Amino acid sequence: MADGAHVESGVEVIFTADQIAARLDEIARAVAARQLDQLLVVAVLKGSFVFAADLIRALHRVGLAPEVDFLTLSSYRKSRTSSGRVEILRDLDLDVTGRNVLIVDDVLDSGRTLAFAKDLISARGAASVTTCVLLDKQTRRAVDVKADLHAFLCPEVFVVGYGMDVAHRYRELPFVGRVTGE
Ligand code: IMP
Ligand code: MG
Repeated sequence: MADGAHVESGVEVIFTADQIAARLDEIARAVAARQLDQLLVVAVLKGSFVFAADLIRALHRVGLAPEVDFLTLSSYRKSRTSSGRVEILRDLDLDVTGRNVLIVDDVLDSGRTLAFAKDLISARGAASVTTCVLLDKQTRRAVDVKADLHAFLCPEVFVVGYGMDVAHRYRELPFVGRVTGE
């Protein structure tokens, strides 16, 4: 298996590219079922850029035509543990007032990032806010926030690949994995 070849380079596969693709089609159908008019997808960068890119194409396949914008937030910086503070590094271009917004993020961990994004977009007058994460680390919440949709429940390990990094590495991997050391 092509994915397995990467085990020896120090990343062990947790979710394969095929598993991810199958879940994205299911999530796209779940989004479509919510019948959100004039949907605006907000991808929380940087970690969600691959997930969001695949998700919007899955949304297209189920007949949706969302607008897309990007919000760059930071809480992790270079370390693997959350600093507890969330900062806007780059704000949205679009006005979310009256819009049905789908927030897309990579990992829901302490919950601070998603709670911040949700509060920000609600406070700006969005008509509705739906949240969708690739990975939900359910047991690690520091603030009370839930994802409306998630692709996978994730074990309590630091994951990389499929857009996610440690110190800017591994984003290019087509699967989600765990660094095992090189
Ligand atoms: P939270 O604010 O603690 O929920 O953290 C969420 C953010 O931290 C996510 O948007 C990710 O960018 C990052 N993050 C959390 N866990 C991981 C991980 O295992 N690998 C890579 N990034 C992570
Ligand atoms: Mg993120």
